[in-house]
Amino acid sequence: MRHGPKILAIESSCDETACAVVEGLYVHTSVIASQVAVHAKFGGVVPELASRHHLTAAVPVLQEAMASANIGLEDLDGLAVTEGPGLVGALLVGVQLAHGLALATGLPLYGIHHMEGHLMSPFLGDAERPARRFAPHLALSVSGGHSELVLVSGLGNYRVLGSTRDDAAGEAFDKVAKLLGLGYPGGPVIDALAAEGDPKAIHFPRAMLADRERFEFSFSGLKTAVSVHVERHGQPDSRAALADLCASFQAAVIEVLVAKARAARRKFGCTAMTVVGGVSANRGLRDALAAAAASDGFELWTPALRYCGDNAAMIGAAAALRMQAGLTPKVQVFASRAIDGAQGAA
Ligand code: KG4
Ligand code: ZN
Repeated sequence: MRHGPKILAIESSCDETACAVVEGLYVHTSVIASQVAVHAKFGGVVPELASRHHLTAAVPVLQEAMASANIGLEDLDGLAVTEGPGLVGALLVGVQLAHGLALATGLPLYGIHHMEGHLMSPFLGDAERPARRFAPHLALSVSGGHSELVLVSGLGNYRVLGSTRDDAAGEAFDKVAKLLGLGYPGGPVIDALAAEGDPKAIHFPRAMLADRERFEFSFSGLKTAVSVHVERHGQPDSRAALADLCASFQAAVIEVLVAKARAARRKFGCTAMTVVGGVSANRGLRDALAAAAASDGFELWTPALRYCGDNAAMIGAAAALRMQAGLTPKVQVFASRAIDGAQGAA
């Protein structure tokens, strides 16, 4: 059975060099070369180093994706690449490689907005789980660079209801982890420690919680509150104290994200919600959203853990749906930061 157009996709917007072969929403292969080890010692992504590592990884990753999918260029219907937003030097590597492939093969090349890619992640299927039909929903999009609530009315029809005024949710995890000497990226380690701690041990502020009609977030005050707590009380002196601090911080992030998402869903009458982006891997956030779905009566569609972080399968899936819908392929190299810009390709 054919699932849709066969697309070779490339993603290089930040610190993962990724290539995938998809067929519609079905993922044949998704190869990701992570640069986490390169950037960990600097406590964050160093753009120049990211570009250099994309340059050395891009072709081998592409070859591995095609070889393990057992697919040649002649089997493809199209190509996809993340056109932005992201680090310019990093994006350039993927975009130029994709342009080269398009010139050599004559295949159509779809430039995909990175956040539109993340929106596709809950719908991806593979050998381990079936694909889900792409349908309208409310998306809570939370990553290292973005925190936003997006009303998804259809393919390319995205309305950002609100976003963060300062730090993104993932950025808050990363900054707090740095402050606590927990390394980079901070999300997974805080998530694991939080599971052992008491979320009520320390009360941290929940910014913008009171105004439920404004779907904006702010996390920089929370980061400062954690920093002030550490200045006053010193670094946690035991694993239990560290776990309590992480659980209390994480609870503050989750409470705001979930409260705003619930209010937006109610206001716009969505019957389904997704959570996407690197932070969607967070156990506490997934549990809280699942509880909200059960009590408020909506469907919650979550990505498989392997598709929460940056990957090329989500980029290929967005291109496959665009191709199926008859949308014109184009690459807009300076894609705007806002996902509303993804409408431009329609
Ligand atoms: O989507 P992503 O891979 O890259 C961007 O597009 O930004 O997201 C990376 C972010 C990082 O800030 C990382 O700390 C966070 O996702 N993250 C998590 C978890 N896993 C990754 N945050 C909270 N809990 C996690 N389990
Ligand atoms: Zn991302």
